[in-house]
Amino acid sequence: YKIEKPANEPVLSYRPGSPEREELKAKLKELKSREIEIPLIIGGKEVKTGDFGECRMPHDHQHRLAVYHKAGPKEIEMAIEAAREAKKEWARMAWEDRIAIFRKAAELLAGPYRSLLNAATMLGQSKNVFQAEIDSACELIDFFRFNTYYATQIYKDQPYSPVGFWNRMEYRPLEGFVFAVTPFNFTSIAGNLPTSPAMLGNTVLWKPASSAIYSAYYIMKLLEEAGLPPGVINFIPGSGSKVGDYVLASPELAGIHFTGSTEVFKSMWRTVGENIEKYNTYPRIVGETGGKDFVFVHESAQVAPVVTALIRGAFEYQGQKCSAASRAYIPDNRWEEIKEELLAQISELKMGSPEDFTNFVNAVIDKNAYQSIKEYIDYAKAHEDAEILIGGNCDDSKGYFIEPTVILAKTPDFKTMREEIFGPVLTVYVYDADKYEETLHICDQTSPYGLTGSIFAQDRKAIVLAEDILVNAAGNFYINDKPTGAVVGQQPFGGSRASGTNDKAGSYLNLLRWVSPRAIKETF
Ligand code: SER
Repeated sequence: YKIEKPANEPVLSYRPGSPEREELKAKLKELKSREIEIPLIIGGKEVKTGDFGECRMPHDHQHRLAVYHKAGPKEIEMAIEAAREAKKEWARMAWEDRIAIFRKAAELLAGPYRSLLNAATMLGQSKNVFQAEIDSACELIDFFRFNTYYATQIYKDQPYSPVGFWNRMEYRPLEGFVFAVTPFNFTSIAGNLPTSPAMLGNTVLWKPASSAIYSAYYIMKLLEEAGLPPGVINFIPGSGSKVGDYVLASPELAGIHFTGSTEVFKSMWRTVGENIEKYNTYPRIVGETGGKDFVFVHESAQVAPVVTALIRGAFEYQGQKCSAASRAYIPDNRWEEIKEELLAQISELKMGSPEDFTNFVNAVIDKNAYQSIKEYIDYAKAHEDAEILIGGNCDDSKGYFIEPTVILAKTPDFKTMREEIFGPVLTVYVYDADKYEETLHICDQTSPYGLTGSIFAQDRKAIVLAEDILVNAAGNFYINDKPTGAVVGQQPFGGSRASGTNDKAGSYLNLLRWVSPRAIKETF
């Protein structure tokens, strides 16, 4: 079969009076009017443990959307068993039949599930309508469609056979199960991490982030409706360390597909190292973690796109993207004009509930995030090497709201220039325009991460210099654009250094990690 390379799912406008807006508004109302109970789903069956957690709205923490059941050791054992059983048929099923399920999931999501998943993401993760649409609708649809296309590219890649022989590659799944651990900040990533290994014939244990179980559950329902057989993906919410430690000790662990914090990822590597003698095979470890993503401005840059990049890059989804622009380097001879425009535009951003579609900024995900971001802001307020240029106010009385904040750092290694904050905080360092090259080196060495970054310049030599010096500083490098918003099929996503294994989500490079091929030589 030949599958054409897909096009990206168009982003709907949700303008007043549009049918998609009416449908979404109705769905938001419906979801808010009922509380649901979320079970584990193991081997296609609902499992209830009675050990409850809660899903609350970040922008109105008194409102409970759901209670969920947490997995314990018994349920993890059940999930491993279910994954083992399901694998027997799933791994042998023709790949056309396997990927048909994910192509159907894309169609369901483009149609009847779109408003459900968008509404769940808006309420459960406090995303505005545009941020939800590009994530839980378009990006997840793109993951399903492009990954099925890339899978076909892998399967059809076969070796040369001289006369008298038939050489062939059998792209088998890994031997064992894959453990998918997903983040709160992108519903699309939550959908991608368990499904991309599954497309290649693997079976999966899926632990979603506790703060995004609500939308994750609806992804699971979508996959079931698309025809995913029982046990192929087993949904096991629960405490990260408890579930993680137990799963990582299984001899059948064959892969980890992770997006989340650098610290958790490192700790998983350590646990895998400690358990290395137990495993039947070396687990494949694929992870995308933190970032301290930069916007670097050369004196030849145009002002308007820089300001747009800083605002969208730093404050969309409250800066809770691993790709968020969180440190900027601006030349002193352009700073005044950039500052004036930047502060003027930030002062117009509206903050509040995502249910009001005019709010650009919503709440940060939970109390822990709120406190940690606030501590960074308080640190800057108290420090003589920093000045708060705008924002800095926090209020958690109703929801976890933090104003878009810009910190001016007097030294390039100020704490908020180095450390990932994961909130709506941008730190600016104003450099001597005559020290462009030197400052590029500082940018390269200031943080341990290597995820995304942007250079703004009209001068081509300045662009080339930045490309050279920052060669390992960003796995996704943007020239005259913001460092966020990679599109599946257009900019495969991932970084190196402390940011991850750079296995590029949304590309065949990622899918290749989920096969353990057998090369067969047959002699006639
Ligand atoms: N893919 C997202 C972005 O590029 C981050 O995960 O913003």
